[in-house]
Amino acid sequence: MVSVKSPTSHAKVNAFVAEMAALCEPAQIHWCDGSEEENTVLCKQLVDGGTFIPLNEKKRPGSYLARSHPGDVARVENRTFICSKDKSDTGPTNNWADPIEMKATLKGLFKGCMQGRTMYVMPFSMGPLGSDISHIGIQITDSAYAVVNMRIMTRMGQKVLDVLGADGDFVPCVHSVGAPLKPGEQDSVWPCNPDKYIVHFPEEHAIWSYGSGYGGNALLGKKCFALRIASVMAQEEGWLAEHMLILGLESPKGEKTYVAAAFPSACGKTNLAMIIPPKGFEGWKAWTVGDDIAWLKPGADGKLHAINPEAGYFGVAPGTSDKTNPNAMQLITKNTIFTNCALTDDGDVWWEGMTDTPPEHLIDWQGKDWTPEAGRPAAHPNARFTAPATSCPTLDPSWDDPKGVPVEAFIFGGRLSHTFPLVFQSYDWNHGVYLAATMGSEATAAADNQAAVRRDPMAMLPFCGYNMADYWGHWCALGAKLKHPPKIFRVNWFRRDENNKFFWPGYGENMRALAWIVDRVHGRGGAEETAFGYAPRFEDLTWEGLAYPKAKFEQLMHIDQARAMHEIDDQKEFLGKFGDKMPGAIQEQWTKARARVEKAGAAAA
Ligand code: GTP
Ligand code: SPV
Ligand code: MN
Repeated sequence: MVSVKSPTSHAKVNAFVAEMAALCEPAQIHWCDGSEEENTVLCKQLVDGGTFIPLNEKKRPGSYLARSHPGDVARVENRTFICSKDKSDTGPTNNWADPIEMKATLKGLFKGCMQGRTMYVMPFSMGPLGSDISHIGIQITDSAYAVVNMRIMTRMGQKVLDVLGADGDFVPCVHSVGAPLKPGEQDSVWPCNPDKYIVHFPEEHAIWSYGSGYGGNALLGKKCFALRIASVMAQEEGWLAEHMLILGLESPKGEKTYVAAAFPSACGKTNLAMIIPPKGFEGWKAWTVGDDIAWLKPGADGKLHAINPEAGYFGVAPGTSDKTNPNAMQLITKNTIFTNCALTDDGDVWWEGMTDTPPEHLIDWQGKDWTPEAGRPAAHPNARFTAPATSCPTLDPSWDDPKGVPVEAFIFGGRLSHTFPLVFQSYDWNHGVYLAATMGSEATAAADNQAAVRRDPMAMLPFCGYNMADYWGHWCALGAKLKHPPKIFRVNWFRRDENNKFFWPGYGENMRALAWIVDRVHGRGGAEETAFGYAPRFEDLTWEGLAYPKAKFEQLMHIDQARAMHEIDDQKEFLGKFGDKMPGAIQEQWTKARARVEKAGAAAA
């Protein structure tokens, strides 16, 4: 092994790197400084090795396409483990393994796993450098692809070691694609291992990831650190780590209101984070702080202050177009890494939904010739772009502010064809926690009336690093401590009519619901009391610029007694899984919610 002088005097960092090098046996060690020059060298190396295809310099300057192994295309929830000492701290919604046994398994897998490869050491900050809301990680990886992605997605390099100093705290993150090279062996374009382990040690605040090079499995700052480990740190320290976008809404009068919204994966966070106010909202501005993760800490003013721990966007490509998200299209015009998109004949990228008419010929995400008759998608449905926040045309001026931005509303939404209206507000904090905890979402966008609803509390089902019931208890306790807690709302852009068509046009038009939310936050908007919460009447929303009939709105907002009762009773099974851990406050909210639906039914009869 070629030994390299460490750029830090931090004894624990150096010990961690030395221990990992001894275990993984890399051919060399590279400490990442995060510089432009380093990035250029790594990208060239990825091009030379065939992992990166440089895109047309005129059409997508500074951009590349990568194609993954077909068996390594998304996060692997069934291979994701939370290894708390006591199984009950992991809870019924996570995979548990004994931490001592798991460590032994991992040490076996990692023994020699970087032979023939470079071990990169990446110091990274989740959040603005030096912010007291931010936290630092050190990721070790044998994937140059992970390095160039992490350089976009986080603040990475020497500047982080400078902030860390000689004894700052850091989360150790160990990553290997699990594909050692024998001397002279030709590397594959996307090295990975069929056996995958995405492992979290919540008591140790440590992450070990093996076998995958894709997204949240490999960019350990993202879901592994900023959600699973950070949620544990947040419970210990009294803050929140959430799967939320952060959006600033500025009225024509210059009043700025920040909201944070949690939707499950591929349910429209990036879209809402970059919303363009529609006709009728002239003079309004929408500002993007983040599109996937929010860290929120109580401030001296009694409000929650949020940062986006990330520095880039790892967004779903399919469906992104000049119609659905023009800001995202602008974001990805340069310096972007595309993964599993299709390649056009003139060296650009394409995916389903980008244009109404597909190109006549493409190379698909697996590198095969593709024509519109192929009968299979050209881009993988989870194809993604990695682009720096600084390319976002609506980037909020405060996005990098170490103090964060004050959040006045939490919005929770899933993909629900039935039962749930466009928007409503909880009666109080604990009612809001209950509404978020019982949130469901359909597994797919399938136009199927019987689409299965999976409960996805706070959109955190795959991301909570501890027992979900304890997490709800933490939410209740935190809200009680805040002088000015955010108001809590539920939204549903996905309700369908009897012909299975979306009731609501969505996208930019979602601004109408957001404007009502802003009004409610400032004590202005009108509402009526319903079985689910405070809901807007037709006259409470702004309709200028959209011809939406009142009768249709009433259907969109209608709460069907039988469906509502079925929903509430169905929640019982999910809540029941948590047994004694279940906070009394949530149980109480469920009982109250059921009584409200019962009462509404009696009143209607
Ligand atoms: P992750 O990055 O996986 O966490 O997901 P995300 O929540 O950022 O997902 P994204 O914004 O990429 O979700 C895109 C999907 O949501 C696409 O299928 C869009 O068509 C759909 N979508 C977004 N906004 C709306 C809307 O207002 N109405 C409808 N009907 N679909 C929407
Ligand atoms: C998600 O699945 O919610 C993502 C993508 O944001 S990944 O980073 O791969 O988890
Ligand atoms: Mn996400």
